Amino acid sequence: MEKVLFVCLGNICRSPMAHGIFREIAKKENLNVKIDSAGTSDHHAGEAPDSRAVSTMASKNIDITDLRARQFTRADFDDFDHIFVMDDSNFENVTALTKNEEHRKKVKLFLNEAHPGENRNVPDPYFGGDEGFEHVYKMITEASNRLAQRLK
Ligand code: 4NP
Repeated sequence: MEKVLFVCLGNICRSPMAHGIFREIAKKENLNVKIDSAGTSDHHAGEAPDSRAVSTMASKNIDITDLRARQFTRADFDDFDHIFVMDDSNFENVTALTKNEEHRKKVKLFLNEAHPGENRNVPDPYFGGDEGFEHVYKMITEASNRLAQRLK
């Protein structure tokens, strides 16, 4: 079983969307995977996803209301095979927690799944409007489909 963790800053917008989207694809494709998400900050720990993330996902018939934010911990380096971060800042924050090369190699920018080597970022939609969440949904769906194909 492959174990996949999605990481952003707050774990209330981008990474719970990735969690919900990839969970849906994995179910349809019968993938044997464990999926979780976390934030580098503890600011929103225990909270449900942002209401705009919930409604964007609900409009695609994906329910993420069961998810609750938690902070990324060093134990996640052992508990997961793939740690997909949303942007460069998440990458810095996560890799700063280890000096171990084996752990460091698990940390990847998620959009490189769809656009290898381009190091694209999923923009933080928190301070914008609903259209930001729609944009994030599309980018994450493309990367999730590629990841599912690769893990098949
Ligand atoms: P996320 O978005 O990292 O995609 O969950 C954010 C959520 C909250 C904050 C920033 C980004 N915040 O500053 O509280």
